[in-house]
Amino acid sequence: MKAVDYLKKRTRFAVPLLLLSLSPPLLGDEALLAEGARVFDEVAGVGCKTCHGEYAEGDLGVGPYIRGATEGAIRAAIDATPEMVVVKNAITADEISAISAYVSYLGTMQVARTLAKRGRFIPSQISIRPGTSVQLVIQNSGIRPYTFRSDNMGVDDLTIAPRSSGSIEWQTPETEGEHSLYCMDCKLKNQFYTLHVDSGADEFRATTPAASATAEDSM
Ligand code: HEC
Repeated sequence: MKAVDYLKKRTRFAVPLLLLSLSPPLLGDEALLAEGARVFDEVAGVGCKTCHGEYAEGDLGVGPYIRGATEGAIRAAIDATPEMVVVKNAITADEISAISAYVSYLGTMQVARTLAKRGRFIPSQISIRPGTSVQLVIQNSGIRPYTFRSDNMGVDDLTIAPRSSGSIEWQTPETEGEHSLYCMDCKLKNQFYTLHVDSGADEFRATTPAASATAEDSM
């Protein structure tokens, strides 16, 4: 499950009813992130994701990588980017704040992306530094939902709908080692996506360390 979906679910129960009646709404960090994710996916009927990619990576070749973009940068882009006029006409100030929180949060995590095809992973491995926050994105290219499991990462099973993606948030351990996950119900068995925790790997620099601290405090 995408962590944000998890947040969305949790938030429904976590926000006391009392808060809902207060104005302006006092949204906790989790609720704010969940709202930001919703707006990112849906604003103006297109969402930021249509151009910037589902995980704000700029992988679609339309809008650039915006993980970690500040609220100021987002406001400036909304004001000045002709392609974004549809968003400009629809988005509210509260939605911009929520999206900024969400995009900042994404900026604290390195993306590791793999494509799952009949149980095979493309690419099949990645090296990441110890102590790094990772958002592991798995694209299910199949026509059936598949469930992914790890026996050594300490994460929940993730079921991904056909032709879509899901993500797992994971903190690499402080010690070097090998971790992996696999598809439980795919045709090919014994295929792994391997995460090498390796101090020789390229360093990931979180774009917004301040936001990172806030996000971690609230988790
Ligand atoms: C219809 C496509 C489209 C949509 C929808 C869209 N953007 Fe953009 N966005 C772009 C393009 C194209 C650029 C690059 C403009 C340029 O470089 O001149 C951009 C630039 C940006 C930038 C500046 C990035 C940089 O490094 O300069 C930010 C920040 C941004 N967009 C945030 C958002 C957010 C947040 C949303 C949703 C609320 C959104 N965009 C929705 C197309 C889009």
